[in-house]
Amino acid sequence: MTPILTVQDLNVRIAGQQVVEDVSFDVAAHGVTALLGRNGVGKSSTLKGLLGLYERSGEVTFDGTRIDKLMTHRVVQQGIAYVPEDREVFSQLTVAENLRLAERGGAPQRALVDELFPELRQRANQQAGTLSGGQQQMVSLSRALMNDNQLILVDEPTKGLAPLIVGTVTEALKKAAEITPMLLVEQNLQVVRDLAHTVVVLSGGRVVHTGPADEFLDSDLVQRHLGVSSDGKAAEGLDEEPAEKADGPASSTEAKEDDT
Ligand SMILES: Nc1ncnc2c1ncn2[C@@H]1O[C@H](COP(=O)(O)OP(=O)(O)O)[C@@H](O)[C@H]1O
Ligand SMILES: [Mg+2]
Repeated sequence: MTPILTVQDLNVRIAGQQVVEDVSFDVAAHGVTALLGRNGVGKSSTLKGLLGLYERSGEVTFDGTRIDKLMTHRVVQQGIAYVPEDREVFSQLTVAENLRLAERGGAPQRALVDELFPELRQRANQQAGTLSGGQQQMVSLSRALMNDNQLILVDEPTKGLAPLIVGTVTEALKKAAEITPMLLVEQNLQVVRDLAHTVVVLSGGRVVHTGPADEFLDSDLVQRHLGVSSDGKAAEGLDEEPAEKADGPASSTEAKEDDT
């Protein structure tokens, strides 16, 4: 199947500093492709680069159309939704107002959102700022799911949520991904296991591994690239690359790691 998104040699700069370097990967036209990596490796910057929120170069093809020179609103109009890290709901506005603001014309799929998050309907007139983190995440996801998109970019949707809510959000993401393909940044490896068929792993702004999610999660590459064991327990902390590296690539798609 032709990928919905092809990223080739994406470079992203923030204030003149390169944070994403020659990143190439595909997002399948179905299900969830997960973008993984320790804190600060450039996952969010990759998403923002795709959206044109940060200065970028490289070739990005979405559904057959080059989008790497488009302004952000044009990228979104092509049918790419973005659920940002930290949710970014309008806290002074009600749930209903947040959703109304996100409507992009056409026929908003309110029924889908109501089915996924019945709780939001009951809270339509509640100020979004008074919602729990999980409920705010539901609002943020709803804004993306309501519109007729061909791809959804989701940045750390379960970050900081209570375990029970992580389950609710995971279920919603699963249903959403049955309708619209998704590129998901996620630190919770159980969520990655539940949702993703493919992983793209970043380290130091570069892609260091691409392959099937289950193979990756069951391998020692998790420890090597994420610094956690595959059950998600932190081994050396998420922030730093270990000084010594394991011998030899464990997979044919394992990229050469250049020390930076
Ligand atoms: N707004 C910003 N200003 C300056 N540096 C930034 C900004 N956002 C991200 N960075 C830097 O870019 C790098 C990649 O960050 P980010 O894409 O947020 O990583 P991740 O999402 O993988 O944790 C980090 O070194 C981070 O410090
Ligand atoms: Mg991030």
